[in-house]
Amino acid sequence: MVAKRRGKISHLNGRCSRALETFRDDLRAARERDPAAHSTTELLLYQGLHAVWMHRLAHALYVRGYRFPARLVSQISRFFTGIEIHPGARIGRGLFIDHGMGVVIGETTEIGDDVTIYQGVTLGGTGKQGGKRHPTVGNRVIVGTAAQVLGPLVIGDDAKIGAGAIVVKDVPPATTVVGNPGRPVVISGKRIMGPDIEHTRLPDPVAESLETLTRRVTELEHHVEAAQRGAGLIDGSGNGRFPDGRPRVEGREVPTQGES
Ligand SMILES: CC(C)(COP(=O)(O)OP(=O)(O)OC[C@H]1O[C@@H](n2cnc3c(N)ncnc32)[C@H](O)[C@@H]1OP(=O)(O)O)[C@@H](O)C(=O)NCCC(=O)NCCS
Repeated sequence: MVAKRRGKISHLNGRCSRALETFRDDLRAARERDPAAHSTTELLLYQGLHAVWMHRLAHALYVRGYRFPARLVSQISRFFTGIEIHPGARIGRGLFIDHGMGVVIGETTEIGDDVTIYQGVTLGGTGKQGGKRHPTVGNRVIVGTAAQVLGPLVIGDDAKIGAGAIVVKDVPPATTVVGNPGRPVVISGKRIMGPDIEHTRLPDPVAESLETLTRRVTELEHHVEAAQRGAGLIDGSGNGRFPDGRPRVEGREVPTQGES
């Protein structure tokens, strides 16, 4: 009986120390990534941290089947912080939500360790489908302000999502994506060059087609001439007759009387 109670107490102690470690990691993340924070006490006022800590409580209730209390905690957190995290979302250590207002994180979202998210970000679904429908975000990812990351896509480790980007496809690791639709601009530290848009040297597709056609007609003329020479219809300087009998001088038709 005593041994059983001791076992329970040590189990509880283990859980508490793990939870404390996680809280410390969250604080460390905020301190490392926000140059505006001057002390740990100041950090305790950050709503981004409150939202993450409230979420950890909501998620613990959610996985134990207490769905209503989990949702209640999440909604209270949303009311006070402006950050909506579904209790089902799985979040790693050291998540830092900077400023945070307007952040929405969906039910089946998975977030790795040391991720940074700015205000106005959505990690959401694209429609009303069930199952896994929200993003999986790797470790050390940065999601810029107002970025919308939609669908069950995968954001690789160390990727950066630019402010305002709309991402609907997987992002490889160590890639920076910007714009709508999100396109890579940096891969593993190397800038990707855009298309050549020098306006004075824009391609002219009509002129190119005409050039190709002229080349082709000249080629065909050579073939026809060679065939006519072979058939004895013209001599070496291109004089003779066309197959239908019309006279031909230096490769051209000679106008008959009445034609000009
Ligand atoms: C994308 C980002 C992470 C920069 O990444 P980076 O790897 O340093 O990339 P660079 O700054 O070299 O930019 C690469 C190209 O993308 C463009 N770019 C950068 N950020 C962009 C954005 N958010 N939207 C559109 N284009 C962007 C740059 O102009 C540059 O274009 P160029 O090649 O034509 O010159 C950064 O610009 C960003 O958006 N960070 C989010 C920060 C944020 O949300 N802060 C909120 C504070 S409250």
